[in-house]
This record gives sequence, C-alpha cells and structure tokens, in this order.
Amino acid sequence: MAEGSTIIDPRDDVLGRARVTDTPELESFYQELAARNAGAFWKRANAIEPWEPETRYRPTLWRYAEMRDMCLRALDLVKPEEAGRRVVTLLNDSDAGRENTAVCGWLFSGMQAMRPGEITPAHRHTASAHRFIMEGKGAYTVVDGHHITLGANDYVLTPGGCWHDHGVVADGEVSIWQDGLDIPLMNSLETNFYAVYDQPAQTAAFPADDLPLSYGGAALRPEGVAAWEKPYSPVMVYRWEATRDALWSLAKVSEGTPFDGHMVRYSNPLTGGWALQTMGAHMQMLKPGFRGKAHRHTGNVVYNVAAGRGYSIIGGERFDWGTHDIFCVPAWVWHEHVNLDASEEAFLFSFNDFPVMEALGVRIEEALQDNDGHQTCAS
Ligand SMILES: [Fe+2]
Ligand SMILES: [Fe+2]
Repeated sequence: MAEGSTIIDPRDDVLGRARVTDTPELESFYQELAARNAGAFWKRANAIEPWEPETRYRPTLWRYAEMRDMCLRALDLVKPEEAGRRVVTLLNDSDAGRENTAVCGWLFSGMQAMRPGEITPAHRHTASAHRFIMEGKGAYTVVDGHHITLGANDYVLTPGGCWHDHGVVADGEVSIWQDGLDIPLMNSLETNFYAVYDQPAQTAAFPADDLPLSYGGAALRPEGVAAWEKPYSPVMVYRWEATRDALWSLAKVSEGTPFDGHMVRYSNPLTGGWALQTMGAHMQMLKPGFRGKAHRHTGNVVYNVAAGRGYSIIGGERFDWGTHDIFCVPAWVWHEHVNLDASEEAFLFSFNDFPVMEALGVRIEEALQDNDGHQTCAS
C-alpha cells in the first residue's frame, strides 16, 4: 500500500503486519529519519512485501497484421547499418513496460524484418537472445562462427556473450522474426556489456548448420566431435517440423496437461535442462476444441501463435488470437487457453524467464480450484 494512503487492507490488521497509527511525534520522527537517508520500515513494509506477487505488467496482445506492417515500413525508413538493429520493440501496456523497455517482467521482445541481401552487423552482449521465425526464406544467423539457416517457425539461440550477425541471402525473401532477450534482467542486475565486431559480419568458421546437424538428432548424441563445454544447448536451432512431429507423437500416448495441452520444452540435450541459462521456451499443441483450465505461476511468459486460432483468458480478460499474434502473461496472473477451431490444432510457441525462477528457488505454480478451474471472464 502506498505511503500516506488511507486505504488499509483488512488482511493487514493482524499481528505480524505493519499497522502503526501515525501521531504528530511519529511524523516528525519520519522527517528526521528522512534527513539522515533513512526511513521507518513499517511505513513501507506491507507495500514492498505483499501477501502474494503483484506484477507491474499487464496482459498485452500485438496483432501480427498490424505489427507486420510496421516492420515493413521500418524497412523503407531506416537502413540496418544505421539502426544497428532495426527492431520494432514490443512494449508492455504499462508504465513498467515503457520504463524498462520490457515486453513483460524480465523479458524484452521485438520484431524485425530483413530484406534479401541485408545484414544486421555483428555484435555481442551479455544479454542472451533467442528468436522465433515467422515468415520468409533464406534467413540465417551466424553465432560464434557457426552459420545457421532459418525457416518459418524455427526457434534459434543467440546465447549471451556470443558474437552474432544475421541476414537474408540475396535470392531469399523478406524475412520477419521475433526476438526475445533478457535485457531488463541484465540491466536490473547491472551486468550488461555490449561490443561490436571488427568486421561487418563474421566469416563462417564451420560447415553450415554444423551444430544442429551434430546435436539435433532426437536422443542421438554425436561421438567423435569436440566436447561441448558451453553452458547452453549445442543444438542452436530447433526445426519446426521436428517440433511439431514430437507433439503429434506425444499426443498419441498422452492426454497432455489440463492447462497447456501437449507441450514440449526446447531443451539442452546434454543436460535435459533449458536451452539457455536465463530464458526457456516451449511449443504447445492445443487439440481441436481444446479448452484449458486456469493456472498461475511466478515467471513471465510471452506467446507467439505458431498456427491456429483461439483465445486466452488472462486475468479475467479475453484475448482472441490468430497466427503470429503475440501476447504475454505476467507473473502470477491466472490464464487459460482455448482452441476455437473444431478440426485444426493450434500451436503456441512461448518463451519465459522460468530458468531464473528455478535457479533462485522461486518457481511456484497454482491451479484455479473454483468454478471447475475456469475464470469468470470480464470481457
Ligand atoms: Fe544482438
Ligand atoms: Fe502457464
């Protein structure tokens, strides 16, 4: 509760919570503390230690048709070598989102379009990045000398600290993808470094797609290659067809989860853990007519509709979505997903900050018990 507020949460009127009635003597005491760069904790305690997480971010949805147009307009307005990274930033519809350049919580996200023959100049940063390809042909990224080809609905890593540049080959097509980074987290931790490469682009030092071709076989680990000792996944790119096929296979033998349908994690095959240290990603499949139950959890999630149409109820508000719309679910907000199509599956790609929550021991989840697990929708 804000300092000076006269509204008192009835739950705070218990032993163990701050419930001091201010007096003129206390007011002057507060002023004397302030003059000494100090304060009375009981004035702020209930606000900074709420009973449960209170997100400063709002559920927000970006329509692909609109954002695609904006990305294409940027192509004509700004040269990539001048912009550095010609990215349209997705800003959470909240003061916190605009202040922290955040899509939601600790996560940054943007969209970028590239024309055939264009490059994003090589650079690196402490912040980790990953990308979800939405459309185009001939796109590629080069990560620490590894050239990686990209197709629609592929998921690709640019781990923190790696040199990277991107481009679209001259005979390709305009390509559009979504970036996800942990910039807000790195800036909160005051750990973000940035550097530019001494050439516009890296020279590939390995055969094209050497990492996904070495490590991308399902449950097959290569022998006779140099040991992989990096803290992130050696797969680097996860192909759409293989991901979709894995979900179809899973659906033959599993009912999936009541909240997310059938879901797979993009994992580091050497550890089984997340592909990156600070951000995770999933692909989930909602069967035709799927109506998920509501849950909430710590951690922030940003979705990109890989295919299909449906809606999600987030914090009691309905958000209808179609292919490549992007939306977010802030921490500890109830959410449930519905596939509106009676014959087609819906696929939702998502990325999150769960690895951070797990590393800190604060990944917490709760299922909605009331109303058979469904929210009452306000809109
Ligand atoms: Fe980058
Ligand atoms: Fe969830």
